Amino acid sequence: MSKKKYVLVGTGARARMFYEALARDYREHGELVALCDTNQTRMDYTNKVLVEEFGLEQLPTYKAEDFGRMLDETGADVVIVTSIDRTHHLYIIAALEAGRDVITEKPMTTDVVKCQQIIDTAKRTGRSVRVTFNYRYAPHNAAVHDIIASGGIGEVFSVHFEWLLDTKHGADYFRRWHRDKRNSGGLMVHKSTHHFDLVNFWLQSQPQTVFGMGDLRFYGRANAEERGLFTPYTRTTEVQAAKADPFAIDLTDSPVQKSLYWDAEHEDGYQRDQNVFGDGISIEDTMQVMVRYQNRTVMTYSLNTYAPWEGFNVAFNGSKGRIELMVRETSYINAGGASDAEGAAKGIQLYHFPLHGEPRIVPVVMGEGGHGGGDNRMLADIFGAANSGAAFAADFRDGAMSILTGLAANRSFQTGLPVNVSELVNF
Ligand SMILES: NC(=O)c1ccc[n+]([C@@H]2O[C@H](COP(=O)([O-])OP(=O)(O)OC[C@H]3O[C@@H](n4cnc5c(N)ncnc54)[C@H](O)[C@@H]3O)[C@@H](O)[C@H]2O)c1
Repeated sequence: MSKKKYVLVGTGARARMFYEALARDYREHGELVALCDTNQTRMDYTNKVLVEEFGLEQLPTYKAEDFGRMLDETGADVVIVTSIDRTHHLYIIAALEAGRDVITEKPMTTDVVKCQQIIDTAKRTGRSVRVTFNYRYAPHNAAVHDIIASGGIGEVFSVHFEWLLDTKHGADYFRRWHRDKRNSGGLMVHKSTHHFDLVNFWLQSQPQTVFGMGDLRFYGRANAEERGLFTPYTRTTEVQAAKADPFAIDLTDSPVQKSLYWDAEHEDGYQRDQNVFGDGISIEDTMQVMVRYQNRTVMTYSLNTYAPWEGFNVAFNGSKGRIELMVRETSYINAGGASDAEGAAKGIQLYHFPLHGEPRIVPVVMGEGGHGGGDNRMLADIFGAANSGAAFAADFRDGAMSILTGLAANRSFQTGLPVNVSELVNF
């Protein structure tokens, strides 16, 4: 079998998962043959890692405007898209038009117009677009899927889903390009695409009606000032006044962050360490949404971005029982000898309550690597020979459906009205 040739667009933080997999674990199946980005420093850093850590040759680098030339010169089979969200559609569409397949990071794109363009191009060209929904592959999320699919709680009537981002990870969205809704679609699209995809996947259904309310209440200058907090800096690296700010980061503290962002700023002016209590944030930090699915299941969902711990709770009520899944991803709860607290703080608890039967704790075996081994399972599925998890693979329809809930919620935030999802794009 000949090796597939891959090119990668967007050589920031997320790119590493893909190039590392190709450089280390899937050398026999595929080969990364070129890099593309708007920023030469980040491409050079990626090459440095490939040479020094993986013993590979330097790859040719192409600026964004030379994307088409890169496809021609390398003869690439597949384009991996890990650039910032608002640019995904450019590369997905150009790759499909050039007869290439695509693996894209989530969210597939950030608005309904671009989403429609991707749907139309994917259908017309018949090429493959895979969206890398790694959460599907996480063992606890897969276990929920299996209980529901096997009829373990009968027909699912309602879902209650709460996601919490903490003041480390959650705050990070307010430092980076994500803070501008034009770049990310806001967290309803950028972040919740994962969660809405999970619900579509768990229920094997699609959103029909969405109603939501969202606001910026915690981050941003105006909110901070209302709480009597004034932070007189726009960014935080090497800023003396920011040293005591628990929300401040210093990019020079981490060699990777320094190389990827601080040393690369002279090219594009992108600052990865903006003050979360500064001006210019156009995304929400507090979001509540109700969704009715085509199969009549109704979900209540919330996303909070300034929580003391990170993780989620989700419960399903069905005709034959209930499932509860609690996942504490990070916490600053000090166990202090209280074993329950420790288990709850760090762990994953999955309960299955059959309607008239014995409740049971469903064992969840976590794997190595990100998302409980989910990232590795997904990489094996994408790059390996086995195609190990075809049931978990997400295509452009899944990519579209998962952002439509968020795009509808964004519209509902603005209008105060419910949104009919079928009016957003045409499949
Ligand atoms: N599935 C996950 O768990 C997960 C985790 C992190 C990031 N992501 C996704 O990965 C993508 C990249 O995120 P990141 O954290 O690496 O961001 P990043 O800021 O570290 O990297 C983004 C890269 O895109 C480049 N870029 C910007 N404009 C471009 C353009 N017009 N053409 C080509 N390249 C351009 C930037 O120069 C940068 O190198 C995002 O879509 C994000 O949603 C997914």
